[in-house]
Formats: sequence, C-alpha cells, structure tokens
Amino acid sequence: MRRIRSITVAIAGLAAAGLALAACSSNGATPSSTGSGAQGAASEVEVFTWWASGSEKLGLDAMVSVFEKQHPDVKFINGAVAGGAGSAAKDLLQSRLQANNPPDTFQAHAGAELTDYIDAGQIQDVSALYDQFKIRDVFPKDLIDLLTVDGKIYSVPSNIHRANMVWANPTVLTAAGLDPAAKYATLKDWFPALDAVKASGKTALSVATTWTQVNLLETILIADLGATDYAGLWTGATDWKGAKVTTALTDFQKLMSYTNTDRDGLDWPDATQQVIDGTAGFNIMGDWAVAAFEAAGKTAGTDFTYFPVPGTDGIFDFLADSFTLPVGAPHEDGAKAWLETVGSLEGQTAFNKAKGSIPARTDAKATDFSEYQQTAIASFAKDTIVPSLAHGAAASIKTLNAISDATSKFTTGASDLAAFQSELATAAGK
Ligand code: GAL
Repeated sequence: MRRIRSITVAIAGLAAAGLALAACSSNGATPSSTGSGAQGAASEVEVFTWWASGSEKLGLDAMVSVFEKQHPDVKFINGAVAGGAGSAAKDLLQSRLQANNPPDTFQAHAGAELTDYIDAGQIQDVSALYDQFKIRDVFPKDLIDLLTVDGKIYSVPSNIHRANMVWANPTVLTAAGLDPAAKYATLKDWFPALDAVKASGKTALSVATTWTQVNLLETILIADLGATDYAGLWTGATDWKGAKVTTALTDFQKLMSYTNTDRDGLDWPDATQQVIDGTAGFNIMGDWAVAAFEAAGKTAGTDFTYFPVPGTDGIFDFLADSFTLPVGAPHEDGAKAWLETVGSLEGQTAFNKAKGSIPARTDAKATDFSEYQQTAIASFAKDTIVPSLAHGAAASIKTLNAISDATSKFTTGASDLAAFQSELATAAGK
C-alpha cells in the first residue's frame, strides 16, 4: 500500500506544480534544444508506443521530426502497436520484456503503471541522464515523484493529458432543441440533454471498446464521489462496497444506455469520429480527442465544444506519458538520444501541439498551444488533481486489467450491478 499512497499524495501536490507551468508559460521563454548530447556512434532506436495511427501518430511524427534534427545519426524505428491506451501494446510489451527482447525505449504512464516495471526490474534508473540533459529542474517536482522510487528516476515524461472531458457536436445539439453552449453542473442536469439527443435519432453518447468504457466509468466515479473519495479508492480510504460507489455505478449504467451498440468493436478514434461526423451528440474521452478534431480540420466553438464531465468541474483527471530505458535495451545510445529529445523543450512543444496534451516541462510557452490546451494548462494549475485509472496513474496494470474485465462483463450483460460492484472491490483488492 505504501506505493499507491505515496503516488496519491504526490498527485495531490501536482496542482501547485501546475501553477509554475502557467506562470512560466506566459513569460515569453524561448524554446531551445538542450544540445547536451547523447550522441555517439551511428545507431538506431526502436521506440515502442501505441501511437500507431491518426492524430496520435501525428504527435509521434512531430517528436520524430525534432529527433531527426537533434540526432541525425540515429535511425528511428517505429515500434508502435495499434490499440488505444495500450490495450494491445502493453500485453505484447510484457511478453517481449519477459523474453529478454525489449525495445530500445517504451511508452509508460507515470504512477502505478511505471512502478510495475520498476518493481519487476525491467527498466533502468535514468537519473544520470537528467543531469546530462540538464532537465532535473524543468518538470513539476510532483510529476518527477511519480517516476521515482528510492531516489532513482525511471523515465522521462513527454506530456500531461486530462481524461475527464466531454466533446460535443453543436449542430447535433441544436437539432435536438438544445442550447449548444449550455453547461451541465451535475450528471442529473445532463441526463435530459442526453434524452433529447436520443429522441432526435442520433447516438446521445458515443463510446468504444472496454478501455474507453473504463475511462467513462472513472469519470463517473469522480463525479459522484468527488476528488477526495475517488482518490481514496486507490489508497483504501474509500469503501468500494459503499453507497456512493453504488450511486456512481447506477449512473454509469444509465450513461451506457445512451451509447452506440456497436461499441465493443470500436476504438476511441471511431467513437470520437461519430461526434466529428455528427452521428453522435457527445463523447467522453481524454483530451487526445481534441487532436482528432483538429486533424479533421474542425474549429473549437463552431464545429465542436468541450467541457469537463458534469460533476467534475474543478477536477483534473491526470495522466502522463513517459519514456523508459529498458534493462537490456539493444541500442542504449539510441534510446538515450530519444530520451534527450523527449525531455527537450523543442521536442515537447512540437509533440504536444499535435497531440492535444500539455507539455510536462514547466518552461513551455502557453501561447504556442491551442485554445483548448490553454484551458487545460489553466485547469492543471488550479484544479484538484486526481489520478486516472484507465491510464496507469491510479492502479497497477493487474488491478486495471481486473477492473476492465469486470466492466466488460457488466456492459455486455454478463453481470448485474451488485455483482459488478463486488467484482470491482475484489479487483481493487479492497
Ligand atoms: C493514453 C495515452 C495517451 C493516448 C491515449 C489513447 O493511455 O496516455 O497518450 O495515446 O491513451 O490511446
């Protein structure tokens, strides 16, 4: 329990750290490459991610173009495995790590998920690279704490995402008789709007396969439990079998009744695309979704709108991607070169502009980013930060897998609400 408790404590401190990002970001700091060099003999680097297509690949491509400029002697090998949230990549990665066949570097979420790899002895301490690249002081301290065990830092963060957002199509809402600018303070306030979209013949709420349903579930737990009790689910302080969780699961069940029935065959870009195309009114998804709207040439405000999941305003459901140096990486020099680019201001700026996330570096310039991203930077600075379940911040991969199995059973009708709640409690080890 020590590990999860310390992560939650660190998450709580991230809000203060965010102030630094917001403050520094308006002072006109100029981007510069670290140039401190992990160069060496010509080499290559296999970079393992799940950013295989669409807007996620555009983000990766942007990082790669900075990498190729900073390290022209190192060949980039794309080891991406399709499947949002690493739904296929993480299993494949585990098989490779266990077979001593690691990629040169892989994507991992800050928090409990990264700690899994550390505990298994699968990744190396990269503290020395923080000194070499002069990046010890450029990230929020509480984010670094999520990457650190026993004083050793195990990865370089690339970005921070927010998982509790609703994306909406104003044309669909207007056609359903709704005010597209309406705000919904609570889930209860939101349900009539979902009813209206449903009555208009469109999908009210689009969702995709299991991991996106877990993403939806965590936002409803946050809405109904509030930040403190939601965080307590991961420390043992909140009872999974309690009445508040029952309320959240009841709301989750209701929300699922508004969703598209083909959901289990879709991944997140398909569900978000339904809102882009105007076949659905709303989609709950992390803010990588904004990059999909932008890549489709859509403009915020007119073509799409966004707001925190009703009941979660003032709460930032946090996750961060980071890159590791696996034990036995075949091309360590290549991996170190990649980590240098990931940690650089130029790499973070290019990547995050395309990815929809905000830079992990506190010296990035807010005005380099989109309208939505500037709201995320502001929210990160002032909101209460809670750890995402679906994206590795709150719970270990084993716990997440067990929660995902229970969720899939429930949403496919193989369990009832009481069984679901009890399976969640077992999955969380509570
Ligand atoms: C998250 C990841 C994001 C984004 C998303 C959808 O787990 O942290 O960067 O890729 O999955 O695939």
